[in-house]
Amino acid sequence: MSNNLLKGKRGIIFGALNEQSIAWKVAEQAHEQGATFVLTNAPIAMRMGEINKLAEDTGSQIIPADATSVEDLENLISQSMEILGGKIDFILHSIGMSVNVRKGRHYTDEKYDWTMKGLDVSALSFHKVLQVSKKLDAVNDWGSIVALTYIAAQRVFPDYNDMADNKSYLESIARSFGYHYGVDNKVRINTISQSPTMTTAGSGVKGFNEFINYSEAMSPLGNATALDCANYCIAMFSDLTRYVTMQNLFHDGGFSNTGVTKEVIDKFSD
Ligand SMILES: NC(=O)c1ccc[n+]([C@@H]2O[C@H](COP(=O)([O-])OP(=O)(O)OC[C@H]3O[C@@H](n4cnc5c(N)ncnc54)[C@H](O)[C@@H]3O)[C@@H](O)[C@H]2O)c1
Repeated sequence: MSNNLLKGKRGIIFGALNEQSIAWKVAEQAHEQGATFVLTNAPIAMRMGEINKLAEDTGSQIIPADATSVEDLENLISQSMEILGGKIDFILHSIGMSVNVRKGRHYTDEKYDWTMKGLDVSALSFHKVLQVSKKLDAVNDWGSIVALTYIAAQRVFPDYNDMADNKSYLESIARSFGYHYGVDNKVRINTISQSPTMTTAGSGVKGFNEFINYSEAMSPLGNATALDCANYCIAMFSDLTRYVTMQNLFHDGGFSNTGVTKEVIDKFSD
């Protein structure tokens, strides 16, 4: 159902890999709500070509960009303004990758060049997106920028490995840059901390299936779906949330404030 919440707004959406991607759902919902936007992903992620279907369905153009490359980002952001016909109102950073996780390397035995790669892709890329946007004066006053994160930034989930550290850094960038971008340009920056969700990035984490069931049982409302996460992103991009900035916003069915649930306790009864 469309309420035209994003009518007339222009955006850039990073990270739609396939139909499971959270960014994919955000693009569909943003289109439904009247936005126009550019889709982008790492050149290597476009080999499968799935993003072409999303571009067709949402009337969007695709600009490949490696989010760790400042040059690619400069090209992406300046071209996006040309294509969309003006400055940008919203940006979604939906990017995450850890080489240590991918290769099954234990947290206490990290390979540090892999750690640095994951940190660059998952966290520093957010600073790069923000810095390039600010330098190019690419975002309108009251524009809204959102990155996706996970509660392992605050609490230990052992198999999340170095992604936990990457997410802590990501959330810190949202606060620190949010101050400067707010004061100088009235641009707001937030992170949304999403429930575990069955996507390519999510299912790369060891024991993910069991974990998703545990999280479901530990959340009074159950795990939030990718579609619900997309709807929350739309709310954050809309003018209805203009004074929300520098926050880490939990979108997790109540998981973050729950110590234990009856469903979990019952599993321990004799
Ligand atoms: N799935 C979950 O359980 C979950 C939970 C909380 C937060 N998140 C976060 O949501 C975001 C989106 O992940 P997802 O679950 O939709 O998985 P996904 O695998 O669909 O998306 C991850 C995206 O990152 C892109 N990417 C990787 N390296 C890149 C680079 N160098 N430049 C540009 N893009 C690059 C990938 O191509 C992919 O599109 C991530 O930040 C993830 O950590 C996911």
